[in-house]
Amino acid sequence: MEPTTIVLFGATGDLAKRKIYPALYNLYLEQKLPETFSLIGLGRRDWSDEFFQAQVEKSLNEFSRRQADPEVVKSFVKAFRYSVLNISHKEDYIKLLGLVEQREAELGIPSNRLFYLSVGPEFFEPIAENIQESGLGSTEGWKRLVIEKPFGHDLQSARDLNRKLSESFTEEEIYRIDHYLGKPMVQRLETLHQSNPIMKALWNNRYISNVQITANETVGVEERASYYDHVGAVRDMFQNHMLQLLMMMAIQLPYNSTSEKVGLKKKHIMESIQPLQKQTVGANIIRGQYAEGNIQGKPVNAYTAEPGVAENTMNDTFIAAKLQIDDFFWRGVPFYIRTGKRMKEKSTRIVIEFKEPSGQTNVLKNKGSKPNLLVIEMSPDQSMTLQLNASDPENKGEFKPVHIDLSPDKGDLAEAYENLIRDALLGDPTFFAHWDEVELSWAWVQPILDAFQENLLPLHLYPAGSYGPAESDIMLEEEGHHWWFDE
Ligand code: BG6
Repeated sequence: MEPTTIVLFGATGDLAKRKIYPALYNLYLEQKLPETFSLIGLGRRDWSDEFFQAQVEKSLNEFSRRQADPEVVKSFVKAFRYSVLNISHKEDYIKLLGLVEQREAELGIPSNRLFYLSVGPEFFEPIAENIQESGLGSTEGWKRLVIEKPFGHDLQSARDLNRKLSESFTEEEIYRIDHYLGKPMVQRLETLHQSNPIMKALWNNRYISNVQITANETVGVEERASYYDHVGAVRDMFQNHMLQLLMMMAIQLPYNSTSEKVGLKKKHIMESIQPLQKQTVGANIIRGQYAEGNIQGKPVNAYTAEPGVAENTMNDTFIAAKLQIDDFFWRGVPFYIRTGKRMKEKSTRIVIEFKEPSGQTNVLKNKGSKPNLLVIEMSPDQSMTLQLNASDPENKGEFKPVHIDLSPDKGDLAEAYENLIRDALLGDPTFFAHWDEVELSWAWVQPILDAFQENLLPLHLYPAGSYGPAESDIMLEEEGHHWWFDE
């Protein structure tokens, strides 16, 4: 891996503390960082290098998945420097350039620069522009921009943002993080069907009955009401994480796949999803908001009673959707997607339900047969299980489901941010959101956003601690299906 300077905007923030420093530290432990690297943290607060290093150490003690060893930490944080930066002050970028060049000279490394924007979306444009204008972006080596979500607020704002960023960085230099793409089980999904002829053969509408993608959370809006009340489940989870899961599930890759091919295939999937019309969105979409309820024995407030939420808010905290990919592989297979806050349990999973043999269904069912399922648990468990039928040794002639465990070794799975930061350092954009798919996913959700805005479909209340509004269950029942594993 080439020597690199990481320039981290938002170094005093929550994401850096919880995710970025622990990820870097774990990569360091595994010798997966460049042999020579340096990190320059930026923030408004007036911190010294020593104070910054102490904060990083604190965050490792609190959030690293592997215990922080004081000796190793000491050598790790040696690479960290801090500089005060006001995002709109051009002179601060000149000062920053001086510091970056000084560090590169001290370490004798080429100017490979990774600019990581762990800041609010309103700062993406000015930072990119100032990087360019100050000369920070004129490197002899490579430069890359790592950018967190949200990438825009709707289709138009996403296009505007992309146009602005592309004045300073090329598409190949922009790494848009969607942390769901870094999740180990999502990364394994691709390999599962790409490298196993059995799976590859089954990965289509001939054998698959329906696909269910769930991301339920027990948390509510926490301290983020001022953000969340303007965003809702569609923008916060659906447009990005959920559609990314759908793409990664539906993708059909050749054995010799490249990042470019992944991008093209994802684009094809997004282009093939049947579009919705604003007036009839309600046929495919269920909008929900949590009412008061009970989660794991604890009473919780309704969304409208959360501090910072507008009194008459119609914001969505739940969405369930039914999508059809209209292509050769998937035509006729419904993809059901749902995500919500304040649900009964935290569970992020994909369930692939296989078809039953035609004409035999009742005979098999009477003998205790269950549909074949492939279940991919992403959170809190990380596992992959194939449910098949076997003969029941205790009841002659009867069947009994058996579960084949396809899970990776438990215990030591990298966190999403480790996978993503490593890929960004390596220059591998496979598991980042490419512009085409981001634009197409905004285009796909735009009629939903418009319909919500104009209140063209009902807002169903669901009790906190449930599986969402009953209408989400009915949507599947009408097609002879049900959400798996709701109990
Ligand atoms: C974030 C959303 O992108 O993803 C949060 O902004 C959400 O609202 C989070 O809680 C969920 O991530 P995970 O990895 O816990 O499923």
